[in-house]
Amino acid sequence: MRVSQKAAQFTESVIREMTRQAIQHNAVNLAQGFPDFAAPEAIKLVAQQAVAADINQYAITWGAQNFRRSIADKFATWQRIEIDPEREITVCCGSTEAMIATLLALVDPGEEVIVFEPFYENYGPDAILSGATPRYVTLHPPIEENDEWSFDPTALRAAFNSKTRAIILNTPHNPTGKVFTRTELELIRDLCVEFDVLAITDEIYEHILYDGAVHISIATIEGMRERTVTINSLSKSYSVTGWRVGWAIAPPALTAAIRKVHDFLTVGAAAPLQAAGAAALALPGSYYTELAAKYNERRNLLLTALRQAGFKAFKPGGAYYIMTDIASFHFADDRAFAAHLVQQVGIATVPGSSFYSPPGGGSQQIRFAFCKQLSTLHRAIEKLQSIQLGQLQ
Ligand SMILES: Cc1ncc(COP(=O)(O)O)c(C=O)c1O
Repeated sequence: MRVSQKAAQFTESVIREMTRQAIQHNAVNLAQGFPDFAAPEAIKLVAQQAVAADINQYAITWGAQNFRRSIADKFATWQRIEIDPEREITVCCGSTEAMIATLLALVDPGEEVIVFEPFYENYGPDAILSGATPRYVTLHPPIEENDEWSFDPTALRAAFNSKTRAIILNTPHNPTGKVFTRTELELIRDLCVEFDVLAITDEIYEHILYDGAVHISIATIEGMRERTVTINSLSKSYSVTGWRVGWAIAPPALTAAIRKVHDFLTVGAAAPLQAAGAAALALPGSYYTELAAKYNERRNLLLTALRQAGFKAFKPGGAYYIMTDIASFHFADDRAFAAHLVQQVGIATVPGSSFYSPPGGGSQQIRFAFCKQLSTLHRAIEKLQSIQLGQLQ
């Protein structure tokens, strides 16, 4: 039977497929970015209470009022931007839905959307589904493992043209861990203003930062508030990826369109979990400091182990992934190496090519996720010790 041309243009998610392979081979799952440790007790309790109190029917389509209020309060506290929760927020089923709803609402078929490559896998199919033509700008790995990934400003400028409708940003960045600097964001702002382009920014790792890195929302850069959609979710900051609660913040006219698309895509996000979301967003600042410290320990542990095992492991400034270069192992490509790791070594990872447009780069890269219990990471590290450089050739 025939399927739509849209659906035929992309494959199943490689990231989610690697989780299935991890289960099949009983491997340690360092592939998909979900924590294997408990979510904060306080917010789980509010979720339970919300179900018991019968907050079990549809919430308002664009989000329960108190949850939208807490999103606005948190944005004001952390980014110093006042937004109107009645007209500038759409609560969605995760940032995944927020992104596709935004693209469907704001981009027309034939228009171009700029994406930094490598990119979080979903953005490719998102662009196809919304009819947009993606235009990729390369993020180059650093020569030294501890330096930042970077882009060529000339290449970025060359990607902008009269058909460009939006640029998708993701900071802190999956898979590289890059945290975009103010200078980089100002450069992007200059181009967005010059070419009258929207910024759609995925900031779900905003609190997972290392070595003093600071997260800057591009909406806070002068001239950008009125042309930015800021996407975020509960998934990563509160370790509840299965709750599927996210949101898009945008000026009223853009929000009105996003809300319409969102309504007909999903009607709304889970009502009791929005109630718990309001409690999550009210957690004290110390919660985020502890979260980042916990991830810092895991990052350092895995980084050291990967380097000892022979990987060139790029040090992330944020998020909870380590992108590696596998050239020294002399495998045919990333997929062959990832298959070997999951089947023979017992570690599921994500092949680098899933973060590049086909037939693009990444064939000598592998991504490891470290959002795991220390005991899980130690199991993975034991396995890594069996693949010291040389033993695989
Ligand atoms: C950059 C990025 N955006 C979005 C998502 C999905 O987020 P959500 O669970 O809010 O849909 C992920 C998950 O790994 C991600 O890495």
